[in-house]
Amino acid sequence: MRAYVLDSTAHALGPKDLEHYGVLSWSVPADEVQRAAMVDTIRSERHYVDQDVVELSPETPNLETICAKFDKEHYHTEDEVRLVLEGDGIFDVRDDGDQWIRIEVTAGDMIVIPANKYHRFYLTDSRHIRCMRLFANHDGWTPMYRGA
Ligand SMILES: [Fe+2]
Repeated sequence: MRAYVLDSTAHALGPKDLEHYGVLSWSVPADEVQRAAMVDTIRSERHYVDQDVVELSPETPNLETICAKFDKEHYHTEDEVRLVLEGDGIFDVRDDGDQWIRIEVTAGDMIVIPANKYHRFYLTDSRHIRCMRLFANHDGWTPMYRGA
């Protein structure tokens, strides 16, 4: 994971800095048993009740249409929780001063963008990411677009 204020790559942000912006992040072990234990702990502590796995790749039908739903600034009324299993991606999160905080994620990175926090998501040039998603409530996971 690599995080920084967008347009200012000079100062890298760590997990503690991201927490200051309300974003939680972890580096999850590659070992499957250890990984499952850590995800279970996070799931129960944060009351996530459901999960699935999603994948985007150059072979995904209508990939650009799907990406266009995520790359516009939006929030959800539930946390957005992602554990990257393969590939990579870019989350931009608004801080309280309306600056973008850029978070580049890769396999093993887990991130929680809190409910009601504006953000957007991009694929990288690899155009591939496979993620586990955790949900507190599927109903909260409708994007609410800024300015809509
Ligand atoms: Fe989102």
